[in-house]
Amino acid sequence: MKLLFIGDIVGRPGRDLVKVGIPALVAHHGIDVVIANGENAAAGFGITRDIGEQLFALGIDVLTSGNHIWDKKEVLDYIPLEPRLLRPANYPAGTPGAGAVLVTAGNGVRVGVVNVMGRVFLANIDDPFTTAAREVARLKAEGAAIVFVDVHAEVTSEKIAMGWYLDGQATAVVGTHTHVQTADARVLPQGTAYLTDVGMTGPHDGVIGVEKNAVIGKFLNALPTRFETATGDPRLHGVVITADPATGRASAIERLSLTADELAALAAAVRATAS
Ligand SMILES: [Fe+2]
Repeated sequence: MKLLFIGDIVGRPGRDLVKVGIPALVAHHGIDVVIANGENAAAGFGITRDIGEQLFALGIDVLTSGNHIWDKKEVLDYIPLEPRLLRPANYPAGTPGAGAVLVTAGNGVRVGVVNVMGRVFLANIDDPFTTAAREVARLKAEGAAIVFVDVHAEVTSEKIAMGWYLDGQATAVVGTHTHVQTADARVLPQGTAYLTDVGMTGPHDGVIGVEKNAVIGKFLNALPTRFETATGDPRLHGVVITADPATGRASAIERLSLTADELAALAAAVRATAS
């Protein structure tokens, strides 16, 4: 079976990309389940109920997140009602929402999704390693044939360590948060597909999704600055993971980096094949 994971959807440019991109990629690759990180979907900061519902309606099965999940206050009311929207599982006990979920893919396979957040240069929360291992084991015990882990973290070493730590336990461990796609996709020896960072689905002419002059100014003078989402060079970043539900092991991981024009061409090609 095939799993599509889409890197951090940033603002309207990111949402426009997935609107065209998801149906085209699902048809082209024969995707069975779609997961995306949505923590920057609302103008780069957080997610709202309206935007969450729009993204689920496009065919996203689970939305993961990270440190920006709480940016829009209304998420505190939304997340307890929407089990498909995850926050990192290693937030302290009592935090609203959940960090793992079990869903049924289009082909009937039960898929577990776990979201954890790193601690290095990020947030002083519970241990992501033991939390991830515990949640992966729990979802498998509850019937998950495939388990996907989004490790939302700043540093490459913490994410690579997580990949090795979960090798043979999770079907895939893929990093998010830096918004820069790394080139180290591989299947680890015990069958876990791994990528340090999947990248960003949004405007690539800025600084990790933000209008570049504001960020340059911030580095030059350290004054308080209002960050706006950039607009140019929209590009979808993601991975397609091939896995065997009988074993829970991955056999392939393919990186995607597609411009809006390339996605539109793919959508047209899919339509032409279907008609
Ligand atoms: Fe983040």
